[in-house]
Amino acid sequence: MVKAVIDPSVLASDLSDLAAECKRMVESGADWCHMDVMDGNFVPNITFGPPVLACVNKAVPELYMDIHAMVANPKQWVPDVAKAGAKSYTFHYEATDSPADVIASIKEHGMKAGIAISPETPSSAITEEIGNSVDLLLVMTVRPGFGGQKFMPECLEKVADLRKRFPSKNIQVDGGIGAGNACQCAQAGSNVLVAGTAIFGSKDPKATIHEMRSSVDG
Ligand code: DX5
Ligand code: ZN
Repeated sequence: MVKAVIDPSVLASDLSDLAAECKRMVESGADWCHMDVMDGNFVPNITFGPPVLACVNKAVPELYMDIHAMVANPKQWVPDVAKAGAKSYTFHYEATDSPADVIASIKEHGMKAGIAISPETPSSAITEEIGNSVDLLLVMTVRPGFGGQKFMPECLEKVADLRKRFPSKNIQVDGGIGAGNACQCAQAGSNVLVAGTAIFGSKDPKATIHEMRSSVDG
């Protein structure tokens, strides 16, 4: 049985105080911190990259940095992101013609590999070969690029399909997730829940994280 992983997305944090925000999440019971790296090319937004990740890693070495790379050339950033201390690197299926190459490079650099699909991409795009070679499958439940968007429940059919085909993998959902729909996501088969607005916007992040975890673990 896969375990619940609660993964606050720092995009919704006070980015002027990023390391402290990550520390606050660790103290609130978060398992990982989800770091959205955007290049202004694959998505119409820019966030941060390896130099910022390296600073966070230095300030909060205990943090499990889960990188969601929304970049046009995912292989290019693998060495620098690994060097910055990231534990896992998830790239978009839509961003490359050779996912196997990117996966091999991520592993060579000592990180866990993940592959993401945007709302328009069917779950059948993830072949048995790709799915079995990664640690994590990310099903986007909003269009990538911005926090605070509305959850797209129709994407959960893809979660169910992937859970059936890959029973022991981490299956992550990202976009518009919170305590209100965590159960629905877990029932479809997701065990890694990303939440930006719902956790950083919460008056009591610890309680929100606890509630979300209970939705998966029961
Ligand atoms: C969107 C990002 C998400 C985003 C989630 O492109 O990948 O991680 O920060 O934010 P919320 O939880 O606010 O929808
Ligand atoms: Zn993300």
